[in-house]
Amino acid sequence: MKDQLESIRQSAKEKFSSVASQVDLEALRVQFLGKKGELTGILKQMGRLSAEERPKIGQLANEVRTNIENMIAERSAQLKRLETENRLRAERIDVTMPGKAQEIGHKHPLSIVLDELKDIFAGMGFNVVTGPEVETDYYNFEALNLPKDHPARDTQDTFYISENILLRTQTSPVQIRTMEKQKPPIRIISPGRVFRSDAVDATHSPLFHQIEGLVVDKGVTMADLKGTMETFARRLYGEDSVVRFRPHHFPFTEPSAEMDIQCFSCHGEGCRLCKNEGWIEILGCGMVHPKVLQICGIDPEEYSGFAFGIGLERIVMRRFNIDDMRMFYENDLRFLGQF
Ligand code: DAH
Repeated sequence: MKDQLESIRQSAKEKFSSVASQVDLEALRVQFLGKKGELTGILKQMGRLSAEERPKIGQLANEVRTNIENMIAERSAQLKRLETENRLRAERIDVTMPGKAQEIGHKHPLSIVLDELKDIFAGMGFNVVTGPEVETDYYNFEALNLPKDHPARDTQDTFYISENILLRTQTSPVQIRTMEKQKPPIRIISPGRVFRSDAVDATHSPLFHQIEGLVVDKGVTMADLKGTMETFARRLYGEDSVVRFRPHHFPFTEPSAEMDIQCFSCHGEGCRLCKNEGWIEILGCGMVHPKVLQICGIDPEEYSGFAFGIGLERIVMRRFNIDDMRMFYENDLRFLGQF
């Protein structure tokens, strides 16, 4: 029995020192000290011992029990310490580490100015409408008084999907689409992408943006056109802006004009910004050609109107002093981050 007790002590020593969790430790305690445990099993057989042996074995058995209880307490404390250490290691936070900045995006410079233009025209009672970027030859040219053999088509060469379907070269087709659908009074602007097969350089891109404008009503005159364009220029460039109208030609307006703004850098003296001209071209405009009204089913004897087309990139370049149009489309954050 003495040997049995010694072997229990020995095996307890090995097992308790390697147990790896509180749950396993408890299971092991039951295995040794529980009611049906190994040590209890031996104590139950004490009755068979002689009176001489009994106290000695009893003493040894108590000693072994105390030993095992100490092993349990010691291992339990050790496990707790290990658990805490592991937790601390796993949940370690380096409060000196630099944070991850959440960068909030912002509007593209073209959108910043476009939103301003929309506000200006909304303030004058214009609605914003849009049209398709893939157009038919009819809407992009034909209905705008640019028949198949018209020489002005040469300046607006574009990308063809088929003989009669193309990427629009101008936002002017939205004029036709609007007049077909809506009876006067009409007062709309239509911003959007347009396409031309131009080679890329600092002032040309095969994709750029225009803002079309159209007003049709009874008794609309050139004075309304000039007043509206002048008001627009003053809102955009300041109340002291000076504008001028130059005669021009567009097939879908008659008469036609281009509007220039006096260079706000040199006030007409001539400088690098205005290429020494003192004036900067801002938009094309004119009175809607009677033929165009007719094509759309609007009687030119009863109604008249004016139209205009603004190049967005040009205005934004002047506004922010950008000298290369390619910057708008390259998505370089060093550029975009400046607005
Ligand atoms: N569509 C013309 C262009 O791309 C611009 C333009 C000029 C539009 C005069 C108009 C206008 O509505 O009246 O060159």
